[in-house]
Amino acid sequence: MAKGSFEASAPGKVILLGEHFVVFGKPALVMALDRRARVRVKLLELQADNIKVHSLNIPNASPAELQPIKEAAIKAMEFLGLRKGLEITVNSDIPISAGLGSSAAVSVATIAAVGGLFGVRFTKEDLCRLALEAERLVHKNPSGIDPTIATYGGILLFEKGKPPEPVKLDLDFQLIIGNTGIARSTGEMVAKVGLLQLYYPEIFESLLEGAHRLVLEALEALRASDLEGLGRLFNVNHGLLSAIGVSDISLERLVYAARAAGAFGAKLTGGGGGGCMIALAEAGRLDQVVQAIRKAGGEAFIAAPSERGVMLEA
Ligand code: PMV
Repeated sequence: MAKGSFEASAPGKVILLGEHFVVFGKPALVMALDRRARVRVKLLELQADNIKVHSLNIPNASPAELQPIKEAAIKAMEFLGLRKGLEITVNSDIPISAGLGSSAAVSVATIAAVGGLFGVRFTKEDLCRLALEAERLVHKNPSGIDPTIATYGGILLFEKGKPPEPVKLDLDFQLIIGNTGIARSTGEMVAKVGLLQLYYPEIFESLLEGAHRLVLEALEALRASDLEGLGRLFNVNHGLLSAIGVSDISLERLVYAARAAGAFGAKLTGGGGGGCMIALAEAGRLDQVVQAIRKAGGEAFIAAPSERGVMLEA
């Protein structure tokens, strides 16, 4: 029996290393952020099939922008064998279209909230799978990394098609996120990288091998609490991402500004072509790097990892 309404939340994310190469089966390191999307789902008793979506963050959102949220709710109801009217309200503090996992966090929270509304607690595997099916409607070839981290939280070693491996750390750390403010489409960037592989399969294969090695080294550095080493690997990873054509001048400006301000390392994060970059620095230098990114034209903030994945708020 459904109660009147139900809320769930899920975190945004940054990919520490391995984006794009993860689409081709290589591992990536991904971290949940202390910024979340909250979704409240209310039953519309007498309006079967009517799904209304509001976003408190984009009050003038077009129907196309809200469609993925509707699709996530439909996927959840299909799985439960239901067709009900719903009112969905999204309230998120994750920047949108920036590569910080906002849409996956909203999808995962929506699916969990629809389950909760009808008294069902989805397993994490089902949540991820349903959110990934909804994501496929927007971007044709996703690796699944975004819904996975939104579901599990923490820091994960992720490989497409495999159960994610949690990475436990002794280390408390923060990183800097710089947003170019330029919205981009992950799907288009993934398609562009796919073309490069078709043109130069052998060169691409060696870049894939390099990316694989890089993620394994980064995992060692994280486990050894070696932020300086991790920063160096960020720089190498950024070089590989530039090589496959997903950086742009807006990202390069912020990456170089962060490095010049004394960061251990900086790289783009997520799909690229705009969106966000991340930087690592010693604790006493975080503010300096934030200021340098702002001066170079980006928005910047300091973020920490979050252990919390999807949560039912009731
Ligand atoms: O959603 P974004 O922009 O953070 O990109 C996700 C990471 C990619 O590797 C570029 C794509 C994917 O599906 O893994």
